[in-house]
Amino acid sequence: MAIKRVLDSGWYVLGNEVKLFENEFAAFHGENLHATGVANGTDAIALCLRGLGLGPGDEVITPSHTAVATVAGIEQAGCNPVFADIDPNTRCISPDSIKENLGGNTRAIMPVHIYGQPAEMYKILEIANAHKLAVVEDCSQAHGAEIDGQKVGTFADISAYSCYPTKNLGGTGDGGVILCRSKEFSEKIKSLRQYGWNEDRESINAGFNSRLDEMQAAILRVKLSHLSNDNEKRRLIAQRYNQAFQVLPITLPSQKTNELHAMHLYVIECERRNELLEYLRSKNVGASLHYPLAGHQHAAYANRIRGGDDVPMTEIFYRKNLTLPIFPQLSDENVDHIISTVLSWFASL
Ligand SMILES: Cc1ncc(COP(=O)(O)O)c(C=O)c1O
Repeated sequence: MAIKRVLDSGWYVLGNEVKLFENEFAAFHGENLHATGVANGTDAIALCLRGLGLGPGDEVITPSHTAVATVAGIEQAGCNPVFADIDPNTRCISPDSIKENLGGNTRAIMPVHIYGQPAEMYKILEIANAHKLAVVEDCSQAHGAEIDGQKVGTFADISAYSCYPTKNLGGTGDGGVILCRSKEFSEKIKSLRQYGWNEDRESINAGFNSRLDEMQAAILRVKLSHLSNDNEKRRLIAQRYNQAFQVLPITLPSQKTNELHAMHLYVIECERRNELLEYLRSKNVGASLHYPLAGHQHAAYANRIRGGDDVPMTEIFYRKNLTLPIFPQLSDENVDHIISTVLSWFASL
């Protein structure tokens, strides 16, 4: 239906579906918010920073434990990423490590709600306010996650989302969104995503092309209407894992009662990770690593990003992390098989 509507309309990029998706996405997050659809989540990050007027020489503190896309987006804006460590309990950026990494060129903090786990937004905003720093939330893995009933993405003034197919809110191709409180900022982003044009197609800002297409917007509108339900299914699977694995010598995702985890990924920490990974794969369990390398461990970023030489908790985490399958379509039988396979490996030790 949605796809046919777009094909029949003959309008394929930045049209009515994008506008409706933007309105629905903003309304899903709360009142008086503005959303802007863009081409992907990396562009969303770069556009947030460019919209803030940040660029060469400006530092953005972010966790080394993230998808490299976060780092790529910061550099795409011309800014310098600075790597902070994680808090091992949340696996998100450690507020103490943010403080330790503050410097004369620090302009922004970019927390990442990694795996769908909300970062410690109250503490992060306190640090930002005290040092007059911008905060941009990277919500690419946490569509619909909440802290005290408030959706992530609405704590900072500006937030970036990826809608890549594997995300909790994913299209059938690339896509991204920027959410913000200020109408003026959202208008600036809408200009920047299309060559910095104004309504007369004069480039009043130096922008680039990061347009969202109508097909993705139409599909994302349908997916958005299922997001809360799909997230609930993910949480139910996580509950089954948590219950079954609580007896094992592994670390499970944090379970805070005042938060709704989006359960984008279910990641455990295990001492003999490589052996368990190999065993699970041999038994047809799609276990994997998110990620095989932290930001500072990639050849492209090694030894050149400030802070990357002092992230001990991240280093430890990357020796133990292992991702088990979690997605709404996973059947009860699949979950049974995954649980019994993990338990059987531990029983064999
Ligand atoms: C944490 C995080 N930030 C940013 C992105 C960038 O998104 P995209 O792949 O849409 O550019 C992703 C997705 O890969 C992500 O997981």
